[in-house]
Amino acid sequence: MITSHSPAILACLNGVIQPAAEARVSVLDRGFLFGDGIYEMVRLSNGRLHAIDRHWRRLDRSLKALEFPPVNLSLLRSRVSQTLAVAGHRDATVYIQISRATAPRAHAFPVDGEPTTLILVQHFGDEKAHLRQAGAGVITFTDLRWARCDIKSINLLGSVLAAEAAKRAGCVEAVLIREDGVVTECAHSSLFAVLDGVLRTHPLDPRILPGVTREIVLELAAELGIPCRHKALRREDLPQVEELFLTSTTARVLPLVTLDGQRVADGKPGPFTRQLRDAFAAWERADEQRTPSAEGLDAGAL
Ligand SMILES: Cc1ncc(COP(=O)(O)O)c(C=O)c1O
Repeated sequence: MITSHSPAILACLNGVIQPAAEARVSVLDRGFLFGDGIYEMVRLSNGRLHAIDRHWRRLDRSLKALEFPPVNLSLLRSRVSQTLAVAGHRDATVYIQISRATAPRAHAFPVDGEPTTLILVQHFGDEKAHLRQAGAGVITFTDLRWARCDIKSINLLGSVLAAEAAKRAGCVEAVLIREDGVVTECAHSSLFAVLDGVLRTHPLDPRILPGVTREIVLELAAELGIPCRHKALRREDLPQVEELFLTSTTARVLPLVTLDGQRVADGKPGPFTRQLRDAFAAWERADEQRTPSAEGLDAGAL
């Protein structure tokens, strides 16, 4: 039951639209038992799904990487559209999760079983909007995650612990550093820095998620002629960085102005960061013109 304490989240579980607090899955669902599932987080902005084609591509990639049974993606798209129509928001987050099957508990894949599909839609108030101007603080934290961070799996304990540490420190995020000193990304966002006048980010490999926002920001950096290297920073580089920012679907391009309580450079969002933040906002406005409205999704517009 949705109480006055829980925000109104609408669910579509295997095609049935209902309040999220009333939706139920079996205890034998492999998402529940093993974390055997994948997800996507999409943002509805002004009634349009942001960068939706890139999110569907990544979802498909995650399903294939984990050898899921076939999932009817056009049906899933039409369910997203129907859930959005019922929810009626103009600005929302759309969480899509697919777990492998419901089956007797055994580690190896079950022979039979249908994937469970879940869509959660919630109003998105963009509470961190002011931080895109002022900048935010982050901490560093050990990267405790598994060896396939490129798959958007619902196994998120390494990120959960890092995010909790950041929250306790009054920060928005945790910059993850592996035991070998390599800086990877953040608990739930991609990481960029400027060092020696060059934009730096970890290369695409199994240590990081291929972020949709990261991909767009790299395209924009190339268009703007900002020099860029896909090379990871190391722990000892961090005190020297000239700029730092994170990117994600919900945070967009967020300048980072403190790291473990120390100012990053002069403690203000740097010039490349501001340029990319503004270019990203312009890209979004253009994308809204290109993207069909949420209501048009099930008409095969995607
Ligand atoms: C580990 C990690 N990296 C990066 C991102 C940012 O990805 P995107 O820009 O696609 O939202 C996320 C978002 O959930 C994430 O969990």
